[in-house]
Amino acid sequence: MFAVTAARFSSDNPLSAVELGEHAEPVPPDGWTTVDVKAASLNHHDVWTLRGVGISADRLPIIIGCDAAGVDADGNEVVVHAVISDNPAEFADETLDPARSLLSERYDGTFAERVAVPRRNLVPKPAALSFAEAACLPTAYLTAYRMLFDKSGLEPGSTILVQGAGGGVATALIKLGSAAGHRIWVTGRSEEKRQLALELGADQAFPPGVRVPERVDAVMETVGEATWSHSLKALKPGGRLVIVGATSGTMPPADLARIFFLQLSVVGSTMGSRDQLARLATLCEQTGLRPLVDRVLPIRAAPEGIAAMINGELLGKVVFTL
Ligand SMILES: NC(=O)c1ccc[n+]([C@@H]2O[C@H](COP(=O)([O-])OP(=O)(O)OC[C@H]3O[C@@H](n4cnc5c(N)ncnc54)[C@H](OP(=O)(O)O)[C@@H]3O)[C@@H](O)[C@H]2O)c1
Repeated sequence: MFAVTAARFSSDNPLSAVELGEHAEPVPPDGWTTVDVKAASLNHHDVWTLRGVGISADRLPIIIGCDAAGVDADGNEVVVHAVISDNPAEFADETLDPARSLLSERYDGTFAERVAVPRRNLVPKPAALSFAEAACLPTAYLTAYRMLFDKSGLEPGSTILVQGAGGGVATALIKLGSAAGHRIWVTGRSEEKRQLALELGADQAFPPGVRVPERVDAVMETVGEATWSHSLKALKPGGRLVIVGATSGTMPPADLARIFFLQLSVVGSTMGSRDQLARLATLCEQTGLRPLVDRVLPIRAAPEGIAAMINGELLGKVVFTL
């Protein structure tokens, strides 16, 4: 079958680590099944894999891609939950299994004609969503869902600052947060991205680092080093910073005095559970919310989409069709 693999790692030139071509068909073990992939979306996780972050060389070559929507062996339209736990009986929330992995870390990922996954990782695809839209849910939208509705601890009507405007998680946070009735403020690196944020439902959009009009209840952080200091300064006393990623670096000055003196909470978050993915799918069906797709490309054009992400050009998600 055709697949997109990480053939090697390159921290400086991740695109050079991508290979397109034939790959062995998946052989599902007991309890697993095979999904015919119709659409798969790109995440920054795939760029990290190509750079060699979060994966060891003994896994190479490996098919990249965490997210997919497709058709299972019984003909059902499904969305694939990307978090693989080998101990589902022990961990109702698969993300708390210390031995968990994401598709494309230990097991082959979704940028292929077929992917093998545990049966319990299949969630029904809402009929109202296209395969391309559904393929955006399992990582970026699920991560944003958990940040906003689980980890933030906030009731609707709160003021939330989202760092970054055009990225997959950032656009998901803006759409889901504004749909839930939060006042969403956003920082974006270009006028085009700030304008996009406003069109998606943000109340105000600012260049990075600008002093916001008043301190916020929570900050949603995916950028890391480049925005960390601004995130802490933007929080009101008792505010909460929810962090899922550090695209620009993982070692900012911690500003410990600000954290304890203002009684701030720093809360880590990762992906979401299978049950949360099912509720997210229902939320999309009930509210009419649809993921923002920057572009849909045939899988053979995967390098074009990956390059756009590396260059920071995206306004929403990149989806590959098969
Ligand atoms: N823990 C988890 O479960 C989890 C899940 C999903 C993602 N993540 C992590 O979250 C991060 C974002 O993922 P994604 O898929 O949304 O990536 P993406 O689509 O490439 O988005 C990157 C975002 O980073 C923003 N950004 C702002 N300043 C930046 C800088 N100096 N350098 C690079 N980016 C900057 C961009 O803002 P502009 O719009 O202003 O350009 C954009 O919104 C990644 O690090 C990813 O690994 C973690």
